[in-house]
This record gives sequence, structure tokens and C-alpha cells, in this order.
Amino acid sequence: MAEPQPQPPTTELAATSLNPNENANEGQEQKVTPWEVEGAKGADGKAAAIDYDRLVEQFGTRRIDADLIKRFEDLTGVRAHPFLRRGLFFSHRDLASILDRFEKGKPFYLYTGRGPSSGSMHTGHMVPFLFCKYLQDAFHAPLVIQLTDDEKFLFKQELKLEEAHAFAIQNAKDIIAFGFNPDLTFMFSNLDYMGGGFYANVQKIAKCITYSQARAAFGFVDSDNIGKVHFASIQAAPSFSNTFPHIFGPKGDIPCLIPCAIDQDPYFRITRDVAVRLKYPKPALIHAQFFPALQGSGTKMSASKAETAIYITDTPNQIKKKINSHAFSGGGATAELHREFGGNPDVDVAFQWLKFFLEDDEELETIERTYRAGTLSTSELKKRCIEVVTAIVVDIQERRKGVTDELVRKFMDPTEKKIVQLKEPVGGIKVEEKKAAKK
Ligand code: TRP
Repeated sequence: MAEPQPQPPTTELAATSLNPNENANEGQEQKVTPWEVEGAKGADGKAAAIDYDRLVEQFGTRRIDADLIKRFEDLTGVRAHPFLRRGLFFSHRDLASILDRFEKGKPFYLYTGRGPSSGSMHTGHMVPFLFCKYLQDAFHAPLVIQLTDDEKFLFKQELKLEEAHAFAIQNAKDIIAFGFNPDLTFMFSNLDYMGGGFYANVQKIAKCITYSQARAAFGFVDSDNIGKVHFASIQAAPSFSNTFPHIFGPKGDIPCLIPCAIDQDPYFRITRDVAVRLKYPKPALIHAQFFPALQGSGTKMSASKAETAIYITDTPNQIKKKINSHAFSGGGATAELHREFGGNPDVDVAFQWLKFFLEDDEELETIERTYRAGTLSTSELKKRCIEVVTAIVVDIQERRKGVTDELVRKFMDPTEKKIVQLKEPVGGIKVEEKKAAKK
């Protein structure tokens, strides 16, 4: 039998190795994998904030700059979301080519996903979904949402398959509460939807990825189960439009844009390489920074550690208590020191959360300035953070109450050929209007 030939590394794959075991030896470097996020360790052993410039360089992505944001605003006629204005969605791959398509009225779709690791989502999970909802409205684009119950089953030793599936359905309700358009959105559990065009693509993708590539990208070790090694093909498949023949037809010729946190990029680096070989369009990406855990910005929130996160199900009282007692403070050690030397909003979790969720740019700017100056105290800052977070969470809770089983079925029904808008170019109406206005 012929020896397996080593695959020549392609550009995007060669750009990085995310092997966490390699990084572990270095100790100092920041670690960002789909499973672990930790800032570089200083001499004191404490994790520093994530260095996003370094990530852009390491991963070989592009920064989102002011020109790109302006082009997005000009084309969609919609003001840039605070996440864009504040650089929280900060990096991308091929976003410009999606905007080109939008300009020409050619179809594309949005793809995102969620690993249902627990019954309730937390504030960190809200970020990509809030942004997807905004993009869906701005582009009037179809959206597919993958619930990776299979992934969580494979990666969480103690989790039962049935539990993971039940979490997926519970999470689906949280996600629907973000206000997605039921006529433009298809959400699916991998366990339920695998078949047809989906499984065909999973297989085609799997054949293009060698074991050594998966190991280099994700750092698997010999004792890992083989499902983990194969999972990349399953997360990749929704990037290709004929995974959803009922929506986009059988050809696989419609590209997608994937909003996600930057830790998911390794999956899509592989996907982009595979796309070339399968003659599908490469998925474009738009990457978010991590939503910091209450304990500080060198980490990300974990759904399985209750004290690091605020859940969509938390009561106003729980929110208040958690922020007051756990949110890492950049304030001075005493009230006097704070007034004299000021606080540091760059490491202050309450401030960081406001940066995500406070709409008003001017107020945010005032808070930042007065906190630095020491005239705004830590408890005042936390109070404002509690108000803003509580309002958002209560709003989702209210809307979640209105999510019926019937509505869940509508979002998850794979037989309904509902995204008829694609017969018309996505965003075509707006483009037409713009042209007419110019004449
Ligand atoms: N792996 C992701 C998680 O654990 C879920 C996911 C699947 C995803 N497909 C995606 C996230 C696409 C972003 C984009 O949460």
C-alpha cells in the first residue's frame, strides 16, 4: 500500500498552528483555541488581556477599518452597530467581497452557530446573535443557525446525547427571542438535520482533511475520541449553500458570511481551504472579540462556571449580586486612592460590559473619561452596568415568554421552502432604490 503523502500546507492553514500543547510549553504566549481562551501570562502568573493585534497577525486575518465600515453604511443605508463602531467586531476575511455582492444585488447568506453546553445562554453568547440579527435586518439576508448538540456530546465527557439535544432545543428558544425573522431564518440541531445535502457535504469535506491537519489546527492527542477529529467537517458544512438544498438549491454556489467570535476561526480556515478543492465559494468571516468573564479580560465566559457569567435566566437580584461581588474592578484600592489617581476602564469588567451593551456613545465616553479621572467611582460604574445589563436580560426574558413550541417548529422545519426572497436578489430593493436616487 502506498504511504500516505503529506499534504502541502495551503496558505491559510500554514499561517498558524493552534496546537494548545505546543503553546503550553511556552507558558507566556496567549492561548486562543475553540476551547480555551487565556491572555499571555506575566511574571506574576496572571493572565493579561487578549492582544487582538497579535491574533490578527497570527491568524492572518484583516482588521476592519474605517473605510470598510463606511462602505457598509453607504451600501446598506444603516448606521454601523456599536459593536462595529467600537471595534468589538474587529477582524474579517473577505468581508469586502460580500459587500460587492450586496452592491450588485447578488445573493449571499449568513451562517452562525451555538454549542448547546447548558440549558441557558449567558451574556457572552448574546454578542454574535445580537450582531446577526442586526446584519439580517441590514442586508435582509437569510440566516442559518447550527446547534452543535453533537459537538457538545463529543467534547463534554459527562454530557449525555439526549441532554445535549434537549439543551439545543432550549437554546433555540433563547435564540429566537433575539428577534430573528422567521421567514428568513433556518435553525437546526445537527442531531436532527443530518442527512440529505448536509451529510453529503460532511463527507466531501471529511475526505479533504487529513488527520495531521486536524491535529495541527486543533491540537488533538491520541486519546481523543475520533468524533472530535471529524467534527470540523460538520461545522464546515453549513458554509456551503447546498447543505440546505431546500433553501438555496442544489448547486452550492451561494457564498456565506459567518459572524463569530475569533476563537472559531480555525474551523473556517480549514473550511476555506476545503472550499477551493470542492469548487465552492469560500466563506467570508467577521470576527468578534471575546466578551470578558466577570473575573477579567484575560478570559472568556464559560457557561459551566456560574460565577463567571450572567445568564439569560438570571433575576435582576442575581445580576446585581454577581456584578457587585464578582466583576473585576479597575478602580483604585481605596476611595481616596481612586479619587487621587483614577481608575482603569481598560481592565474594568463593568466598563467593558458597558462597551458592549450601552447604546449611547456620548454617555460611554463620559463614563470612560470620568472613571479615568477618578470622579466616577467604581460603585457608580457598577450601578450603571447593572442597570444596562438588567434591561437587556429582562427584555430577552420577556420576549422568550412569547416563543411558543409552534414558533420553534417554524424556525426548525427543514421541509418548508420558506426563503423565497432569494428568488429576488438579497437586498435588491435597496440597491434599486439607491440607483434610482442617484439618477
Ligand atoms: N462550535 C461553536 C460553539 O461551540 C458552535 C458553532 C457551530 C458556530 N457553527 C458555528 C459558531 C458557526 C460560530 C459560527 O459554540
